[in-house]
Amino acid sequence: MYRYYHVCNYFVKNFFLKNVIIYMLLNFILGGNMIEKILEKEVLTKEDLLKLMLIDNQEDLNILFKKAYEIKLKYRSNKVFYRGLIECSNVCIKNCKYCGIRSENKKVERFTLIKEDILESAKIIYDSGYASMAIQAGERNDKGYTDFIEDTVYSIENMSKLDMGITLSLGEQTYETYKRWFDAGATRYLLRIETTNKDLFTRIHYNDELHSYEKRIKALKDLKKIGYQVGTGVMIGLPGQREEDLVNDILFFKEMDIDMIGMGPYILHEDTPMGIEFKDKLLSNKKRLELSLKMIAICRIYLQDINIAATTALQVLDELGREQGIKAGANIIMPNVTKKDARENYNLYNGKPGLKDNSNDVKKSLDENLKNIGEEVGYFQKGDSPHYFKRFKKN
Ligand code: 5AD
Ligand code: SF4
Repeated sequence: MYRYYHVCNYFVKNFFLKNVIIYMLLNFILGGNMIEKILEKEVLTKEDLLKLMLIDNQEDLNILFKKAYEIKLKYRSNKVFYRGLIECSNVCIKNCKYCGIRSENKKVERFTLIKEDILESAKIIYDSGYASMAIQAGERNDKGYTDFIEDTVYSIENMSKLDMGITLSLGEQTYETYKRWFDAGATRYLLRIETTNKDLFTRIHYNDELHSYEKRIKALKDLKKIGYQVGTGVMIGLPGQREEDLVNDILFFKEMDIDMIGMGPYILHEDTPMGIEFKDKLLSNKKRLELSLKMIAICRIYLQDINIAATTALQVLDELGREQGIKAGANIIMPNVTKKDARENYNLYNGKPGLKDNSNDVKKSLDENLKNIGEEVGYFQKGDSPHYFKRFKKN
């Protein structure tokens, strides 16, 4: 009896198992394949999205990924667009509990690339025919830095004769700063909400002015108002994150009418508070990869015409994680073009791939891998999010 009580208690307490049981019961009651029936619908409800998120067997996963890939082909063709990534500084004023370059991590050797180095990488990107680049860094908002970014964006625009899509991912800034950078030539901005569960947001950050959920939302709204193509995203497989939270994240993307998504699995960094607290307590790599691929697929099915990145974090969990992301509906890859010596110090999480890779070799093998899965690289095309242009027609 005592043992029976413990088994029941285990099932009731374990949210994941509970959901799996509900999922199996529904499948049984509805008869036939529940997933196929959901995917035939014109409009998906929150309950439908949750059922998709709870898929736990390979047969249904294959059905989900196949449908997502069909929708990618319909709205975004069999093309993958590259965004050459430059990690221009690991200096950050924030202290996110999951991130390796958080301000309190004293083990990090801090760097900020000089303008000439950024321009050199931008030229490599341009000459490689990527047609788009992304500048990413920790968050800083002092005037010297915001001026520096403005000037650098302006110079890249000149170098490329206005022919390069420039994405910035430089955290929360004032409306005025975002506007200056937009006027200098940046057309896209990525700012992840990280999670839309406010409790979880507070737990993985701090409950203070610097790490405020409301400020992040305001920043996303400012970016839209200015006219950027706006991207956001979340981390997947965070400790304490439920499938329902991920579904709420997708509903948030829809409600915010966002143009691009960059999201990926949460990965431990040993020198962070979360890295220490949750060592050996995370969902397995396999489960976090599977959950991330499900997120990509469901976003593609639900949001259709946006750009979705198969991010580097997928590659940490599986060498071919990004290619799997493409087959689950993503259409953007961001090859790292940062100078090698700086790349080593931009460590958000353990096991960052490609630290020693040569950009040209990476390009060749990625091209080859993508060809093998029936994809083509959209060289010399910016690959803007069509959703952005529809958004403007609508308003
Ligand atoms: N695991 C996965 N993603 C991370 N990021 C930061 N730290 C981690 C981590 N440990 C992501 C955040 C941030 C982006 C720049 O990198 O989502 O927005
Ligand atoms: Fe800074 Fe971004 Fe890392 Fe937070 S996630 S510490 S804002 S670089």
